[in-house]
Amino acid sequence: MTGERWIFRGVRVLDPFRGLDAEGDVAVADGVFAHPADAVGAVPVDAKGLWLVPRVTDLHVHFRDPGQTWKEDLHSGCRAAAAGGVTTVGVMPNTVPVTDSAARLAAVRERLEALGAVRPWMIGAVTAGSAGGEPAPWDDLAAAGAVALSDDGHPVARAAILGAVLAWSRRTGRPLLQHAEEPDLSAGGHAHAGDPARDLGIPGVPAAAEAAMVWRDVGMLREVGGRLHVCHVSTDGALEAVAWAVGRGLDVSAEATPHHLLLTDEALREWAGSAVTKVNPPLRPARMRAALRRAVRTGLVGVVASDHAPHAAEEKARPYPEAPFGISGLETLLGVVLTVLVHEEGMPPLTALARVTVGPHRVVGRRYPGVRPGAPADLTLVDPDAAWVVDPARFVSRGHNTPLAGVRLRGRPVATMVGGRFTFRDGEVLV
Ligand code: DOR
Repeated sequence: MTGERWIFRGVRVLDPFRGLDAEGDVAVADGVFAHPADAVGAVPVDAKGLWLVPRVTDLHVHFRDPGQTWKEDLHSGCRAAAAGGVTTVGVMPNTVPVTDSAARLAAVRERLEALGAVRPWMIGAVTAGSAGGEPAPWDDLAAAGAVALSDDGHPVARAAILGAVLAWSRRTGRPLLQHAEEPDLSAGGHAHAGDPARDLGIPGVPAAAEAAMVWRDVGMLREVGGRLHVCHVSTDGALEAVAWAVGRGLDVSAEATPHHLLLTDEALREWAGSAVTKVNPPLRPARMRAALRRAVRTGLVGVVASDHAPHAAEEKARPYPEAPFGISGLETLLGVVLTVLVHEEGMPPLTALARVTVGPHRVVGRRYPGVRPGAPADLTLVDPDAAWVVDPARFVSRGHNTPLAGVRLRGRPVATMVGGRFTFRDGEVLV
């Protein structure tokens, strides 16, 4: 990709797949990792005190392109990934139009590849327009590069379609990424059905809307087989369903978002009912957050993904029921992983980082390349102790919508490299 050569000196290398946690020099030559001895003429980078993490991946992002580029476009999305220390992204299909055909999927993939700033994992829709009715052409989507299918933003609610897509998953090895929400139960709700929403007069979504759907899904998984990944799990009931499926040896995985790990529905009060806290699934009470943190620690939840959902300021300024769901999350993903999992929960760094590296690779059945010589030089340099305060005005994403504004975090990315080329360095985005 590039003729540049770099050597990171005295860096702490963390490769979760190999269980490698060691200080040393890491060289990059011509786009790939190299033996330091082979990187003749490499430019030295003093990386003492920093961590080097290969192939940081955010399995769940919304880039809004085509169709809603005032919220984000592929370029601004890539810039947000770079600033967030992210090198690989799972690109959700809920654009306008929805990515429900091979041509549409290939068009987005090709534009992202041309930008060269992230490795895109394209996710195709399950149903035409993600409307829940007619199945999309799954084989064609896979042939065009879809690594998974999802109607994200909407559940695959109809059992017959779920059964068919799980059977397809069993045949092709590609997972279904399910947005688990029982629509009869969530209809009309905008926040978790708990005290804060009630006190603020915001119609609630019961936890059962998520749990009921995950129980239904794992029941179908048991009958049909295939691979099921539960997106943004937020309730203890849904976690119990995932644990049941794991216990039966079913091929199930799950992801948690940084905002569900960090915040509770008390944020609704702190933000005085502003829709900046509005997200789907909604922020939950403390006991569910505790269950989620436990599940991430034990590995029942193997992925942390941002659900990056940028929206315009004027959209989020509407009254709660009229504002869109979503949080702009790419630029706080790593900060929250480090703050919550490493510093607060005391997880070993390799285990915490597995959730944003090996974990997502397992979900889509990709080999995690790590720091092997010859592997693509996709890496993030992390300052694990840097204290910072989230300031959305400084986001490079077009979406500045985050209830993490003002939150103090510890640990952040300081440089990002994709294919041997810096996409972010010294506070500057280079793509
Ligand atoms: O809050 C959300 N926003 N949840 C979703 O599932 C979709 C996302 C979006 O696309 O805005």
